[in-house]
Amino acid sequence: MKDIRADFPMLKKYPKIIYFDNACTALKPQSVIDAVVGYYTEFGACGGRSSHQLARKTNNKLDESREKVAKFVNADPEGLVWTRNATESLNLVASSFDFSQKRKVVTTVMEHHSVLLPFMKLRDQGKIDLEILPCDEYGEVSMEKWSSAVDNECALIVTNSWNNTTGGENNISELSKLVHDNGGLICVDGAQGVPHHKTDLKGENIDFLCFSGHKMLGPTGIGALAMRKEDIPKLKPFIVGGGTVMKTSTEQAESATDQTRFEAGIQHYAGIIGFAAACDYLSDYGMENVEKLERTFANAIVSSIVNAGATVYGKHNRAGAVCSFNFKGGKPHDVALMLDKENIALRSGFFCAQPGLEAIGAASGAVRASAYIYNTLDEVKKFSEALEKVSILYG
Ligand code: ALA
Repeated sequence: MKDIRADFPMLKKYPKIIYFDNACTALKPQSVIDAVVGYYTEFGACGGRSSHQLARKTNNKLDESREKVAKFVNADPEGLVWTRNATESLNLVASSFDFSQKRKVVTTVMEHHSVLLPFMKLRDQGKIDLEILPCDEYGEVSMEKWSSAVDNECALIVTNSWNNTTGGENNISELSKLVHDNGGLICVDGAQGVPHHKTDLKGENIDFLCFSGHKMLGPTGIGALAMRKEDIPKLKPFIVGGGTVMKTSTEQAESATDQTRFEAGIQHYAGIIGFAAACDYLSDYGMENVEKLERTFANAIVSSIVNAGATVYGKHNRAGAVCSFNFKGGKPHDVALMLDKENIALRSGFFCAQPGLEAIGAASGAVRASAYIYNTLDEVKKFSEALEKVSILYG
């Protein structure tokens, strides 16, 4: 496979650092950085507003970018809404979904706060009934649990495709069949899943797919909500303002019926173009290659942690190279700082998933190593050596 490390300026600038914080955010290849800068040096204008030549050129680039990002998850561009990140996409679904006919939402304790908090807010406002399914010791929720909770009262289920703590994978096709058979819809938190495995909105029958650019080599501050274009007019406007209406008077506003009803104000054009460049990069690399590499790293990282005498959360055999762990007696932040001294950059704490961490026995948080396509097995070896040093103190 092509050596891609040279494509990432951060890896050149910090050759000693082993970047294992990819579940938090990924590094950016030069092509994405060039695409972001290219907006300011080549295009520069507003999108969807003015009609001069620079605006037309910008519009074409933005249309092309929407097509690329939609195609990356097998969605139609007409059903793709730009947001700031997966969090904003999830908030958009929570605040705009029509719960007037059915008001039951089912989710799990293993979700990111970006899933739990918007729906807990609706529950606390008395707008929905929320069922939060418990997990087993590996952080997994069985189909039996889902099946007993999802009935014909269920309006929506919300869950992640890949878990940001355990690297576990949910069977989204099976869940979408279950909820559709009961007349409800599915909203998928794809923040970890979309960057790391092939996501197919149409094939998996996903109604709402929420994802972020920055975890998949793209810029920060840009994300998307992908859905069927027919569903767009069914969601109530979220943030309103410039660009979201067909016409308005001071008495009444008529919302746009396409995705612009959700895209208020000037958008993050540089981010959108950079997001499309990230999709190009990953498509050229091949998502099947990402998946293969991911499994190799997952196995190697889990083995290193186990060999050092620490506890790994989740099943050892996992699809995602996201591995959370703890040394008995070692506070997560202390362990992370010791590893930082060894030039290993990883995350410690609750990973914005505190109820999930508590449920799997990590009530004081954990340390998390997460790899991506530019990492190497040699880096995993160095990580393993560093863990051996930590284990002298805490193992
Ligand atoms: N959600 C991100 C993480 O898991 C920030 O670290």
